[in-house]
Amino acid sequence: MNPPALEIRTLETIVPPAPDRPEIGGPDHPMRKVTRQVAFEPDGWTPERAAKVAQLFDAMAPEWGARTTQERQDVLRDALLRGGCGDDAGVCVEVGSGTGSSTDDLARVYDRVVALDLSREMLRHAPPAPGLRVQADAAHIPLRTGAADAIVLVNALLFPREMDRVLARDGVLVWVNSLGDRTPIHLPAADVAAALPGRWHGVAAEAGWGIWCTLRRFHD
Ligand SMILES: C[S@@+](CC[C@H](N)C(=O)[O-])C[C@H]1O[C@@H](n2cnc3c(N)ncnc32)[C@H](O)[C@@H]1O
Repeated sequence: MNPPALEIRTLETIVPPAPDRPEIGGPDHPMRKVTRQVAFEPDGWTPERAAKVAQLFDAMAPEWGARTTQERQDVLRDALLRGGCGDDAGVCVEVGSGTGSSTDDLARVYDRVVALDLSREMLRHAPPAPGLRVQADAAHIPLRTGAADAIVLVNALLFPREMDRVLARDGVLVWVNSLGDRTPIHLPAADVAAALPGRWHGVAAEAGWGIWCTLRRFHD
């Protein structure tokens, strides 16, 4: 019997829902539409859109670090702990790394972290280490096919074909939305798996203010 197109097991919540989730984002946020178009439409990402998004995040970069809170960090930490990520030490590609608030946590698990961001200003406000910081568009990752043992997206746009290309055959894709369904760049776990080429399985959970899932390919 063929495995289902996607199979996601929901784990129990161990990081309790934190009070006072910031009331930003939500379904009407302009980035929500962009997120869905990039994930599901072949022409969802154009050079004009890339330039606008880079400009938007360049402008937010100086203040971006102030958003980092324990509650936001806890979501990725729960994913790394319970999402089967420690088995995949090797090369981790962090997509949309911003000012680097997740890179320390990733460097504790993976041997090498390549932190990509489209915005030059975000990279300029990030610490130089750990991780190799690279200005690149995640629609065209400057790495060979299958180079990443893990691809981690914390509130970052999903480029399904490119993530599929760069992720190793047995690699793991880690998806984190630190503010759950209020995150401007949000997709539910099932949509992440559905957007990716092929068939995927994994685990998902809520944690604090957020949600996460880790996905791997089914092999026939
Ligand atoms: C919402 S921020 C998240 C930053 C960081 N991961 C965090 O959670 O604090 C999204 C980041 O993705 C970057 N970004 C947007 N489009 C991108 C693309 N096509 N390739 C690489 N980075 C991109 C932005 O510049 C920004 O730094």
